[in-house]
Amino acid sequence: MTSAAAPKVVHARAPGKINVFLKVGSLLEDGYHDVATAYQAVSIYEEVRASAADDFSVNFGGSIDTSNLTTDGSNLAIKAATLLARRAGFRQGVHLEIEKHVPIAGGMGGGSADAAATLLACDALWGTDLSREELLDLATQLGSDVPFAFTGGTAIGTGRGDQLSPALAKGQFQWVLAFADFGMSTPTVYRELDLHRDRHSQDIFPAAVQPQVDANVLQALRAGDPQMLAEVLHNDLQAPALHLEPKLAAVIELGEENGALAGLISGSGPTVAFLAADLDGALELQIALSAARLTVVRATGPVHGARIVGD
Ligand code: C5P
Repeated sequence: MTSAAAPKVVHARAPGKINVFLKVGSLLEDGYHDVATAYQAVSIYEEVRASAADDFSVNFGGSIDTSNLTTDGSNLAIKAATLLARRAGFRQGVHLEIEKHVPIAGGMGGGSADAAATLLACDALWGTDLSREELLDLATQLGSDVPFAFTGGTAIGTGRGDQLSPALAKGQFQWVLAFADFGMSTPTVYRELDLHRDRHSQDIFPAAVQPQVDANVLQALRAGDPQMLAEVLHNDLQAPALHLEPKLAAVIELGEENGALAGLISGSGPTVAFLAADLDGALELQIALSAARLTVVRATGPVHGARIVGD
């Protein structure tokens, strides 16, 4: 039984993501790249519980090692809470308990999911009552992938990846994710791509000014056809990620030898996402990769974006 005096806790959840397609344009003056991506939210969630406090603090737990995470103002969840407080003119703070399941610096948008769920939880806790558009605007200020963690589903992202339009997707895709025991820095992987393009400017096509998502990707998503999608999975950040961490190539190969329709680096890596034909294929692949001592998690997509959970 909940006593009337029990402190109020608001629980919000947001999903991790896979970029099933990612084209990166040339480096812009602001240090970012225009991208064209197809995001899919997958069933691995970050759980954020927010309770009233005088200042801003965060604790981490969950199924992954969170010991190296910062808990000060540099943490994206704290940034999300302080941004919302400032926007709403709210003068108190919040304590956040975050249960993490999405790998840290893994290319699956775990920090972005923390930020999206924090916005939603604090909005409900404080009764700031911002509109969805206002919260999305704050999400955009926090990072390129935060708006997608907020909206979820399957969506096309342009600009920095933050300009979203929903994409039709039928059914559920079965994914098997191989987590690495190290993280990769997104700016470093983008920089490696730029360096590669500079080095090979004579013999590769220049990066598209305005990259676009291949129409076959949209068609495969609409059809809900994993075979079709496997043919067109693509990530421009894969080559630079493999250049920085060559051992990931063997992980991709191992999955493809064990029944994956295709494997690709998720976002800026190092997580490898494998698409399976169906649930049986995913289970078999999970067993084979686990036997090779990889940390493997199964997930389905698409799933919903950030939402409040009734405990
Ligand atoms: O937006 P976010 O803070 O997640 O971006 C982290 C870094 O990733 C940026 O500082 C930039 O180096 C790189 N990035 C990029 N182009 C994008 C998104 C991110 O170059 N569209």
